[in-house]
Amino acid sequence: MKNTLCGKKVSDIGLGTWGMGGGESPEFSQDEKYVEAIRYAIEHGVNVIDTAEMYGGGHTEEIVGKAISNYEREKLFVISKVWNNHLHHDSLLNSARKSVKRMQTDYIDLYLIHWPNETVEIKETVSAMEELVSSGLVKNIGVSNFSVSQLKEAMDAAEQTRICANQVEYNYGTRGIEDDLIPFCEQNEIDVIAYTPIMRGAISDYGKLLSMAEKYQVTPVQIALRYVMEKAYAIPKSSNKAHMDELIAAGKIELDPEDYRELSS
Ligand SMILES: NC(=O)c1ccc[n+]([C@@H]2O[C@H](COP(=O)([O-])OP(=O)(O)OC[C@H]3O[C@@H](n4cnc5c(N)ncnc54)[C@H](OP(=O)(O)O)[C@@H]3O)[C@@H](O)[C@H]2O)c1
Repeated sequence: MKNTLCGKKVSDIGLGTWGMGGGESPEFSQDEKYVEAIRYAIEHGVNVIDTAEMYGGGHTEEIVGKAISNYEREKLFVISKVWNNHLHHDSLLNSARKSVKRMQTDYIDLYLIHWPNETVEIKETVSAMEELVSSGLVKNIGVSNFSVSQLKEAMDAAEQTRICANQVEYNYGTRGIEDDLIPFCEQNEIDVIAYTPIMRGAISDYGKLLSMAEKYQVTPVQIALRYVMEKAYAIPKSSNKAHMDELIAAGKIELDPEDYRELSS
């Protein structure tokens, strides 16, 4: 199981925040619920929070900021992402400053390019991200939704620091990256961060998850999550305390290598 990100020891899973405080635009009516949900996760040992400038049109970062203000910042690992229309130099620096301000913090632990944008030179974007590292606003840099070839280009563009993570969709129903991206990242010491790791709870079509859950006396969602955790760092989203307990407990499942092979076959 993976429990480091960019060389830092972190909790077994991270918490996703998509939908907390709106979709692509802000929604303010349930802020308290989301702040409480994030705090609940932190109180129960989760120290990685994944967000993005795009979530809730920026409002999700404000919610994250409020939630984390109660805790020692250095014990947390906050991931945020720059949207792909802000990948030119000045625009990217501006986005990072705004994210940090919305989260009322001094820095972002891991800053990702949310989606590739072939119309902007990767060199320009990566250099701007390296400037953020030099200035201390960002501790580590990475990418999201990058293929192996796009990742190689980003790695080549990095001169002063390294691309340490690629956040991509990876779950029991979407396993194509096991053939190319995961081995490439393993060889190059790049962390694969798995988004939508529990398929938004829609696991009932997968008979093996159901039977394995019965064998281990856990839930199918927990088996689905534990499967992903073998090769990637998972960031499921939940704002429901019972669900969160379930997700956190998945890290305790000791999955027999034979059963893992059975699930992957
Ligand atoms: N980089 C990217 O392009 C990208 C794209 C998508 C997502 N992400 C990140 O990855 C995070 C996770 O992905 P996701 O939100 O798409 O999907 P997910 O984590 O697979 O699923 C989240 C959904 O599952 C429900 N859920 C949580 N625990 C459950 C449980 N134990 N049983 C049943 N349902 C449960 C949640 O509802 P409740 O809240 O009610 O529990 C929520 O609706 C996002 O929040 C975001 O931070 C990144």
